[in-house]
Amino acid sequence: MDNSFFNILEGLPNDIKYIFNSSKMDDGEKLLISDIPIFNSPEFIKSYNLLSKLCEKNVVMHCLAVSVYVYELGSKIKNKGHNINLELAVIGALLHDIGRSKTHDIRHGIEGGHILRQYNFDERLALIAERHIGAGIPKNEAAELGLPEKDYIPLTLEEKLVAHCDNLISGTKRVDIDFVVNKFKNRMGVDGEGLNNIKNNKNNKNQHLPPVIIRILNLNNEINNLLI
Ligand SMILES: [Fe+2]
Repeated sequence: MDNSFFNILEGLPNDIKYIFNSSKMDDGEKLLISDIPIFNSPEFIKSYNLLSKLCEKNVVMHCLAVSVYVYELGSKIKNKGHNINLELAVIGALLHDIGRSKTHDIRHGIEGGHILRQYNFDERLALIAERHIGAGIPKNEAAELGLPEKDYIPLTLEEKLVAHCDNLISGTKRVDIDFVVNKFKNRMGVDGEGLNNIKNNKNNKNQHLPPVIIRILNLNNEINNLLI
């Protein structure tokens, strides 16, 4: 087996290298991600090898951080009795930004889908990459952005979880939802009033918030509800 994954593990920051064992989280027990079977599966290693061949190291590290977060949240969601394919979600997270080998602009999701189909990866992984931008892009906005005119909205739980965890990872660091919303607000020049309204579920007052922020907050609420 190619050792590069285990070599790079040695150099990972602790917040990526270690993962809390969700069943023993109260005890604060940590596991090395290399001790978790999904991160040792042939599919994960194959995916990691392609990712690291095509992408720059900072992209690879970001993707690893997202896949670890997806594993953690996905395990908790599964423990709550929800139906989720954890291996699909983790590998989808690992590959979600592979399109950044072609472009860092908004088309990188679509490019990722192309690359994964070209390498004969599971169509479900191609769709995770295509639908991970923000909390997805609907057909009308895709047309305005010059993207091929179709819906890029995450539909499956695995697609939704990858988009959500990607939103909550900046580089390799975990950030909270306020950080994400402020980032988009600063980018778009939105005042803070509508933000509190949507967090209080007063949806009728949110019309002036950009749809992308509303979608990100709604996805955040949807995933949090699965963890209750
Ligand atoms: Fe991305």
